[in-house]
Amino acid sequence: MAIRTVGVLGCGLMGSGIAQVAAAAGYTTIVREVNDTALQAGLGRIKKFLADGVAKGKVTEDAQNKTLANLTGTTSTADLKQCDIIIEAIVENLDEKRAIYQAVEAVAGPDAIIASNTSSLCITELASATNRPDRFGGLHFFNPVPLMKLVEVIPALTTSEETQQALTSFATSLGKEPIAAPDRPGFIVNRLLVPYLLDAIREYERGLGTIDDIDKGMKLGCGYPMGPFTLLDFVGLDTTYYIANIMFEEFREPRFAPPPLLKRMVLAGYHGRKTKRGFYTY
Ligand code: CAA
Ligand code: NAD
Repeated sequence: MAIRTVGVLGCGLMGSGIAQVAAAAGYTTIVREVNDTALQAGLGRIKKFLADGVAKGKVTEDAQNKTLANLTGTTSTADLKQCDIIIEAIVENLDEKRAIYQAVEAVAGPDAIIASNTSSLCITELASATNRPDRFGGLHFFNPVPLMKLVEVIPALTTSEETQQALTSFATSLGKEPIAAPDRPGFIVNRLLVPYLLDAIREYERGLGTIDDIDKGMKLGCGYPMGPFTLLDFVGLDTTYYIANIMFEEFREPRFAPPPLLKRMVLAGYHGRKTKRGFYTY
């Protein structure tokens, strides 16, 4: 299973990061968005990250140029025809993911692997929505993708050993540290992280402290790089809300239920940094 050409579906927070690291690792990379506005916003995020990296002395100009030369943006699914692997990083919604797999499978080669960056959906259910359940798996990156070293590799019940190995080797080739994680809601990391983030919102609603003090407490008291509200804004409140609903649906335990305030903030369009307003204003 030689991987040369990588397709990425979605050029949002995660898709842009995944496309960037794939292109930086030398893969011909094609990223697909729904329209040109979303595509330009995503490509702009990649260009800014690389330019900031050059300014900080962390990325060479040569690496910046090579990464951008390996990268193509498109709004057409047909352009993913030649891809050996297609990584889906669209909105956390089962129906949307099913629909895009169907569109992609109409053009992709029979040997191409499809992987999902889902945070919480059942990998076996996603795999069963494709005509290649043995060549499908979870490949869960962390935000911000270019800086976070971890990738969870999650086999569906139907994933072949060959596919799991190909996904693990691919993650390593991107300079990441893969771990195998089970096909359970939240896999390993979100299983522990999401209840903590939801608890922070619930306790804030119950008057535990101010947003600033809770964030400062966890940052300075526990050495976390970001307090829970800064991290919620960073991940996206919409994405966190979708994840919480999916985890609650599966576990039926109150600690996974989305707190009322989270739901209302999402309905109000306060999605965090990406909409310039969440628990903080940007
Ligand atoms: N190009 C290259 N390198 C860069 C860079 C750029 N544009 N910008 C920053 N860096 C480098 C910096 O030079 C620095 O490197 P050194 O450590 O070698 O000095 C490093 O990256 C950290 O950058 P900064 O010092 O500028 O920033 P920071 O210290 O504030 O860290 C952060 C930023 C890495 C995002 C940190 O705040 C952090 O780890 N936050 C938590 C993120 C997290 O928890 N993510 C997981 C979210 S959950 C998820 O993703 C799963 C899900 O399904 C929801
Ligand atoms: P996002 O809202 O930033 O980006 C999603 C992008 O997908 C949008 O730009 C949207 O236009 C695009 N899109 C929607 N339908 C599409 C389609 N049919 N084809 C191509 N593009 C399409 O969301 P995100 O934070 O990047 O999350 C994407 C996925 O990654 C979700 O499954 C999420 O659970 C997962 N994830 C998110 C994080 C995080 O911290 N935000 C971390 C790990 C995994």
